Amino acid sequence: FSLKKYNTFGIEAKAKQFVAVHSNAELKTILKEHKSYRKFILGGGSNMLLTKDIDALVIHIDLKGKKIIEENEEFVWVESQAGESWHAFVLWTIDQNFGGLENMSLIPGNVGTTPVQNIGAYGTEIKDTFVSCEAITIENQEVKTFLKEECHFGYRESIFKNEAKDQYIITSVVFKLTKKNHKINTSYGDITSELEKNNISNPTLKEVSNAVIAIRQSKLPDPKELGNSGSFFKNPILLKSDFEKIHQQFPEMKYYNVSETEVKVPAGWLIEQAGFKGKRFGDAGIHINQALVLVNYGNATGQDILNVSKNIQQTIFKTFGIHIEAEVNVI
Ligand code: EPU
Repeated sequence: FSLKKYNTFGIEAKAKQFVAVHSNAELKTILKEHKSYRKFILGGGSNMLLTKDIDALVIHIDLKGKKIIEENEEFVWVESQAGESWHAFVLWTIDQNFGGLENMSLIPGNVGTTPVQNIGAYGTEIKDTFVSCEAITIENQEVKTFLKEECHFGYRESIFKNEAKDQYIITSVVFKLTKKNHKINTSYGDITSELEKNNISNPTLKEVSNAVIAIRQSKLPDPKELGNSGSFFKNPILLKSDFEKIHQQFPEMKYYNVSETEVKVPAGWLIEQAGFKGKRFGDAGIHINQALVLVNYGNATGQDILNVSKNIQQTIFKTFGIHIEAEVNVI
């Protein structure tokens, strides 16, 4: 079974067996009946790089549905099933004037995988509105609710990438959104300039969302047109003491303070400075408008993309002494 259509990188890789599940009951049955099988859980396929065929039963989580589960004057609690498209879900909340997700418009992928790497963009992360998620254990189909505190969210991190890795399937997620007094966050420079360009001073949720969409469309390739997985690397976080030594050597290096002792450096800047932006190695390349994004021009294999990523990592380490880590799940 070809997985080409099931990963946004558009990599050709085969699954030994494939099944799409449309309800929790179906999911439980499949897991129970295939207890001894090796399993591979597939959501939106937007944050992975397939470097080989999958010698396992691929279970595609296609659970659909979204609803309001509780509300008061100020807040609303909405629940989405894991297989809903994230962007469609965000637009649905904005249409009802529910605030909190607008800065994360147009992020590819499905709702169920958003907690795994605590997706974020333009000054907001899902941990800011996340309440809980429901998951079932692959081993014995027990249902468990993870409250926010239990998810150990960090920058592109959660328990699902660490202690709980490969043990759970997230089936639904609950977010707490605002019905009024929205906390509009336009602090990110790109949003400020996009709104100014359109003479908008007190933006609505929809206007913030539209600004984010415009920025993303100008910088980030549409996976439907050019295979990619968004940022391929995480922005490295360095100890201030280490950073200061590097900064003396490269005074033009961009950085953001993340705590008293830590600094985050934009990996896109490092990759661009190292001369990779817009470069192409066969069908694998580095996006012309955003150096943090690796792209598949058509027939790149996962290994081709991986080789480019290793070349970038080694060059960045040699040039700046900084290790950049993949954000994408390499399989
Ligand atoms: N930069 C360059 N050259 C580039 C790209 C970036 O010099 O080719 C520098 C620019 O100076 C810019 C800075 O890097 O000021 C930051 O760039 P940008 O605003 O594009 O954000 P980013 O740090 O590259 C992160 C997220 C994105 C998210 C944006 C906006 C990570 C790994 N990536 O990218 O998330 O959309 O911020 O908030 O944190 C994703 O995770 O897949 C993703 C796209």
